[in-house]
Amino acid sequence: MRAHTELDAMQGLRRTHSAREIVPELIGREVVLTGWVHRRRDHGGVIFVDLRDRGEIVQVVFKPELSPETHARAGDLRSEYVILVRGEVRRRSEDTINPKMATGEVEVDVLELRILNRATPPPFPIEDEIEADEATRLRHRIHDLRRGPLQRALTLRHNLYQSVRRTLTRNEFLEIETPFLGKSTPEGARDFLVPSRLHHGEFYALPQSPQVMKQLLMIAGFDRYFQIARCFRDEDQRADRQLEFTQIDLEMSFTDVEEVLGILEEITVRGSADAAGVELTAPFRRLSYADAMARYGSDKPDTRVLLELVDVTDAFRESEFRAFRANVDAGGIVKCLPIHDAAELGRGAIDRLEKFVKKELGAKGLAWIRVNDDGSWQSPIVKFFSESEKAAIAAATELRPGSLVFFQADTAPRANGILSRLREDLGRQLGRVEDRPWDVLFVVDFPLFEPDDEGRLTYVHQPFVAPVEEDIPLLDSEPERVRGTHYDVVLNGVELGSGSLRNHRSDVQRKIFEIMGYSKEESEARFGFLLNALDSGAPPHGGFAFGYDRWVMLLAGLDSLRDVIAFPKTQRGQDLLLDAPTPVGPEQLSELGITLPPAETEP
Ligand code: AMO
Ligand code: AMP
Repeated sequence: MRAHTELDAMQGLRRTHSAREIVPELIGREVVLTGWVHRRRDHGGVIFVDLRDRGEIVQVVFKPELSPETHARAGDLRSEYVILVRGEVRRRSEDTINPKMATGEVEVDVLELRILNRATPPPFPIEDEIEADEATRLRHRIHDLRRGPLQRALTLRHNLYQSVRRTLTRNEFLEIETPFLGKSTPEGARDFLVPSRLHHGEFYALPQSPQVMKQLLMIAGFDRYFQIARCFRDEDQRADRQLEFTQIDLEMSFTDVEEVLGILEEITVRGSADAAGVELTAPFRRLSYADAMARYGSDKPDTRVLLELVDVTDAFRESEFRAFRANVDAGGIVKCLPIHDAAELGRGAIDRLEKFVKKELGAKGLAWIRVNDDGSWQSPIVKFFSESEKAAIAAATELRPGSLVFFQADTAPRANGILSRLREDLGRQLGRVEDRPWDVLFVVDFPLFEPDDEGRLTYVHQPFVAPVEEDIPLLDSEPERVRGTHYDVVLNGVELGSGSLRNHRSDVQRKIFEIMGYSKEESEARFGFLLNALDSGAPPHGGFAFGYDRWVMLLAGLDSLRDVIAFPKTQRGQDLLLDAPTPVGPEQLSELGITLPPAETEP
């Protein structure tokens, strides 16, 4: 043991074990433990302290007969004090064995106690389940992070990193960092800008992803790259979105879709097993984008939910029912969600659903048909239907007594969005769910373009996605029919990540910019560096990015990204612990050449 001085808080003792390691094999051994006072109980004479270390707890016992002085000092201990104890591991007496604790068969008889630091009382108990609301937890994140679920989630997060790194290293990927201070890339969100002190009026953009940089690395000859990459996107926050988040970003040269998907399967299967003992089986099922949208109304369906959607647009092309016909005439669709044996959904439930979809999802209505036991129909809309429309619906949805069908007539994205949400919610509520914990699939065969709100073609994923080789000639004639090489991995209804092959030919890339409506000058100004790089000997390449936080969240069985990120932002984009963002002083602004309107300069 090294020499020590009075300045050394631990005064020469170091911990010999962590709480988790205090097992019956150590009975009779002397150990040194460090950690936090989780709880103190005085039992007339004997003092019991739960010592917590890395989210695990071991019971340490202070007995007056072992050391009166130590016992007396134990009386001063309060929650969250930081202590070191030296003592002997003992078996607990039969009546005090706690089968609920990992260390519940043993305890430590303390011979020596050192109080390393005192602590103010915690704002909430450091327990797995607490009542505190999320804002309180985030403001007191230090205490929150001491709780078991967060300790476990961040441990899982660490283990998953190591597994992914191992798999990628074994496959000869090189880990290379790319800059935070860069140039705007079109990932579809708003950029975070960083003002330049040396170039007033000019800004760096924080990367929405390392997309362009990894393509440049491929052209530079590093033919397999990966990075645990922080990405920044200024978009509205949801439970599965953060302003800054982490991707496992990868790219490979001289490759094809099958090879990339094989690597993705290997990473996903091994990572899930290593970090969480979750068994996924490769090869993953593949679902085409068209099928996913048709059957589930979503490109990230949870296919454990057994309900499926049915398109009935054709039945209403000549309909007298104005609400539906008008949407069809405007280029929209009519789609429905049939649910059989749905007697438990009564009129009240239907009315509540209609209110919900109108208020929360922007639906125009929620038409429905119920088939009574005697085969008659009950519905607010069938009075408008012709016999042939009724027959078409009955056939398409396989109506029978007990069936209930919900309809949406709207633009395709909205009708699909609303029905896919109803499908998953009602499927779960009614127990129409396959009994298996994990649902993993690839979604493939995305179109390269889709019309935006104004009817102009825009990219489905991002503008660097390569078209399927044989569709390249269609770029000139029928760009809307061009298939992209894009693929997504979907886990339990969450888009875990996405990728594609990229354009390595500058003429194809230029053509795509042109179809998106960029002028030659605009393409050069924004992406000249990439186009030049493509002309300098670019290998065919492609890759992928996992949304790492989402993956950890799913494996940990949690519902919010905020529970798997050490210091996350709130829905309003704030860090409540640091109190960020905050105003800055006038000197700092003036150095950056920034003047704020008077009202906003007040700190
Ligand atoms: P994409 O934009 O699809 O692709 O992002 C990849 C994955 O990152 C996750 N993700 C997010 N996670 C948390 N918060 C967010 N705000 C957020 N946004 C995205 C998702 C998503 O699937 N450069 C391409 C990848 C490529 O083609 O190689 C890209 O960034 O899980
Ligand atoms: P209305 O003709 O507006 O009285 O609507 C009759 C029924 O059709 C009501 O149950 C509405 O909720 C429903 N409905 C109206 N428009 C739509 C629509 N675009 N999609 C689905 N249901 C609708």
